[in-house]
Amino acid sequence: MIEVKEGVGKEALFEAIANDLSQQGYSICSDAIPTDLIQLLTTQAINLNERYTKAGIGRQSRHLVDDAVRSDKICWIDSDTEAGCLWLNWTNELKQYLNRRLFLGLNYFESHFAYYEPGDFYKKHKDAFVGQGNRILSVVTYLNDNWRQQDGGQLLIYDDLGQELESVLPEFGTLVIFLSEEFPHEVLPAQRERYSIAGWYRAGND
Ligand code: OGA
Ligand code: MN
Repeated sequence: MIEVKEGVGKEALFEAIANDLSQQGYSICSDAIPTDLIQLLTTQAINLNERYTKAGIGRQSRHLVDDAVRSDKICWIDSDTEAGCLWLNWTNELKQYLNRRLFLGLNYFESHFAYYEPGDFYKKHKDAFVGQGNRILSVVTYLNDNWRQQDGGQLLIYDDLGQELESVLPEFGTLVIFLSEEFPHEVLPAQRERYSIAGWYRAGND
C-alpha cells in the first residue's frame, strides 16, 4: 500500500474547516487533499469508464432520474480499492476532528465519484431538507488539473435568500464543505470533462 504523506499541517487544515463551519456554515480550501491521495483518486475516477451510471435525485425508493435537474454520471466509492480505502480513512479522520470540535454527532459517510461530460450540469438544489433524512455535512472535492474560468463547471453556492456567496473552480485538491440543509448550490455546464467526488456525513443511522 502506498503511504499517503501526512498533508502539511493536517491539524491546521481541520481546525480551519471547523472555524469556517462554526462561523459561516461552509468552508472552501485549496490544496486540501494530500497530493498522493488526490492522484490515486483521479486515476480511479478516470478509469471507471462504463461503471458510471446516470445520477438520480432522492434516495432509494424516492430515487428518480431527472435529466432536467442533473445530467452527470456517478459511481459510489467503497473500500475495495486503495484509493477508496485511503479516501475513507481521510474523511473519517476529518469526521472525528469535527465531532470533537463541533459536537456534530456525525457517524455514517457516503460518497461517490461524479463525471460530467461537456454540457453536463446540476441545477440549483439542496443536499438535504429540514426534517427529511439526516445529511448534515456535504463534502466536495475535485480531480481536474488547470481548470480555467472558460471551462465552466463552477460550483455556485447561495445563501437561503438566493444570493450568490461563492463561485468555485473544480480544481485538483480543492475541498468544499457546507451544512447540507442550509446552502442551495449548482454546477454550471462544464465545457470539458469534469471529475469530482461528492460525499455526505450523516447523523443517526438511517
Ligand atoms: C452534488 C453536488 C457539486 C460539484 O453532487 O450534490 O452538488 O461541484 N456536486 O460536483
Ligand atoms: Mn449537491
